[in-house]
Amino acid sequence: MTDLVVRRLLVDMEAPIARHWCAGDAFRTALFNALSMSFPVGEQFFIDSVRDGFKVLAPEQQEKFRAEVHGFVGQEATHRRLHALYNAHLEKLGLRNDWEPRARDRLKLLEGVDVRHWLAITAANEHFTAILADFMLHNPDLLGEQDARLRTLWLWHSAEESEHKCTAFDLYQALGGSHDWRITWFRRVTTIFLLDTLRQTVNNLHRDGTLWKWSTWKSAASYLFGQRGLVRLTYGPWKQYLRRDFHPSQQDSSASERWLRDHADQYRPVGPAS
Ligand SMILES: [Fe+2]
Ligand SMILES: [Fe+2]
Repeated sequence: MTDLVVRRLLVDMEAPIARHWCAGDAFRTALFNALSMSFPVGEQFFIDSVRDGFKVLAPEQQEKFRAEVHGFVGQEATHRRLHALYNAHLEKLGLRNDWEPRARDRLKLLEGVDVRHWLAITAANEHFTAILADFMLHNPDLLGEQDARLRTLWLWHSAEESEHKCTAFDLYQALGGSHDWRITWFRRVTTIFLLDTLRQTVNNLHRDGTLWKWSTWKSAASYLFGQRGLVRLTYGPWKQYLRRDFHPSQQDSSASERWLRDHADQYRPVGPAS
């Protein structure tokens, strides 16, 4: 079991967000903003999946998972709250979150469906966030220096995603979730996540007036496919999930542990999971 600490991040989310807060780079800013827009609805779904999965566990299994589920819910609820504040600033910049209503409509289709499907979807998303998190923790300079607060927010969120990457997966396994459904949902989630990310990033660039600038496309090509490209570096870890004997703990978490150790002055633990 993972000991998950809930942390209060010591950042000021009241201060406005600059139009191109990420190193003055329109593409990277639009991409991160798109991801932020998906978090409040997505993370609430992850919380609901894990809570509902926990409820149907056998009592002796519940004891094993109780502290970890408590920590998971606390961490995701904190992310959700801070990203909602972040997103309110984006709205003031004239951006429009079309991802959230689309996701809400899709989630209606899952009402009343076996909780193992919810957990398989959550575990797939958590794999995505964990590999993205590890990429960000290894390449923090790509977040730029202009907004130290948002840089801290993204790296703290990344560190905790890496930290709790096993919870939904372990619950799915504990409830007897099958390998085939895990893979089916992973493939579906991959398609949906990539399309949603693309659509919202393009939408943000369009509203920002930078969609058709050469510098935007140049940055996109370099950030996604360059030497340290996101797609290039995360394809291998993405594919690992397809293995029958895959477990999230097989993927390295040292960058997360290092960040949390080296930046203890940026947050305050609000209590161990209990
Ligand atoms: Fe999160
Ligand atoms: Fe998460």
